Parts: sequence; structure tokens; C-alpha cells
Amino acid sequence: MKKHIDFWAYAGTILASVRSGVLLTTAAGGRLNTMAISWGTIGIEWGRPIFTTFVRTGRFTRELLEQNGEFTVNVPMRGSDLSLVGKCGTCSGRNVDKFKQFGLTPETGEQVAVPGIREFPLTLECRVIYRQEQDKSAMPAEVIEECYPQDVGGENWGANRDVHIAFVGEIVNAYIIGKDDAPDDEDDDDEFDDNDILDHVKNSGKILDEDDFDRRPDDED
Ligand SMILES: Cc1cc2nc3c(=O)[nH]c(=O)nc-3n(C[C@H](O)[C@H](O)[C@H](O)COP(=O)(O)O)c2cc1C
Repeated sequence: MKKHIDFWAYAGTILASVRSGVLLTTAAGGRLNTMAISWGTIGIEWGRPIFTTFVRTGRFTRELLEQNGEFTVNVPMRGSDLSLVGKCGTCSGRNVDKFKQFGLTPETGEQVAVPGIREFPLTLECRVIYRQEQDKSAMPAEVIEECYPQDVGGENWGANRDVHIAFVGEIVNAYIIGKDDAPDDEDDDDEFDDNDILDHVKNSGKILDEDDFDRRPDDED
């Protein structure tokens, strides 16, 4: 059972969750895969609602996205096992079937041929409408130093030689998987509230601090 939502109403909360880590799921050529992401944006381009994800060129996810330009973003909610972010973010679908290995349950997509994940129930279905490899010559030197130091090669999760590709996905559908069925659902009503997502942000210890909002552009360090 899927409960459709107006994702705009929760965009800020979803982004706080991205900051702590969500999953990005892809499928192509009979392969299904998911990886952790903590970079991403929700916005508007060409009058369409978009989720932009930044995926290093070496990722298996990038290969699948080039074959099938569809993805789902899977956001944990109250009760989700947050260790899945670390697990899915430190091994590659090239070598491991992460769905089998970590007991993830795919839930058939509605508008895209990529499933959501029952264990991370808030789902955005997206269709890539633009891709752009990031141009290092247009980046500030400190970003290149921090994000592309070139000291770890290969395709593992710590590799830092390859740049990111921005995949701009039009958000074509948004819902929560199975909330109404959850036997241990403690909410009295079926309404989804921000605390259902924010719990995991709090648990991750990365909840935004009041100070994050107090700074003004002219603040001195
Ligand atoms: C919390 C967390 C956030 C991450 N965010 C990103 C990201 O935004 N972009 C990216 O390319 N890799 C990111 N990674 C690394 C990938 O998740 C990791 O390399 C993964 O093993 C790639 O899997 P794949 O080869 O199956 O695609 C992140 C990892 C973690 C643990």
C-alpha cells in the first residue's frame, strides 16, 4: 500500500534527511542496485520539480543510470534501520547484491521501472531529464582539494579521483510505502508528520543546530 504525498510540503525535511544519508536506487539490464547519497537538491528547472543527485563516475550506480535514466530516492523514517546507509554506501553493486545481502525489500514502482525500498519508505520516483559531468576547471580550488585530492584511486567508495555527474531527475511521483500496514505504527492517525522523518536525522547526530540558522552573510569567523 502506498500513501501518496505532496513532497513540496516536506522538501526541507527530506533535504535534512539527505544531509544525513538516504538511498538512491537504480535498475537496468536485469540488475537492481542502491547506494548511499548525502549530496542532492530538490528544486525547479524548466518549470519541473527536480531532484538532482551527484554521482561519481566510478560508481556502479552511474553505469545503471546511463542505461536506464530512472531512479528512486529512498528516505528513512521512524523505525528504519539507519545502519543501511553505511552498509549500502561502502560496497559496490558490482560485487554484491545489496538487496539480498542487507535484506532490502523492493516495492514495484508506479511511474518508473525502478522499485522503492520498503525499509526506507518515503519514496521519490524520478526520471533523468539532464546529465552534466562536473567541470573541475569551474570549481573553487578548495573544493578540488577537499573532494578530489587524487590520493585514492579505483572504484571503491573512498575513491576520490573521479568527478561527479549531476543527474537531474524530474520528480514524477512521491509516496510512503506501507505506512498504513505497519503493525507497530504508533501514530493514531494516518497523517505523516515531519517527526517521522526527522527522528533519523536526530539519531544520526547531524540534526541542524540553531547556530546553522543564526549566521548572516556578513558574520565574521
Ligand atoms: C553517508 C554516505 C553518503 C554518500 N554520498 C554519496 C554521494 O552523494 N555521491 C556519491 O557518488 N557517492 C556517495 N557515497 C558513496 C557511495 O554510496 C559508495 O561509493 C557506494 O559503494 C557506491 O555503490 P555502487 O558502486 O553500487 O554504485 C556516500 C557514502 C556514504 C556512506
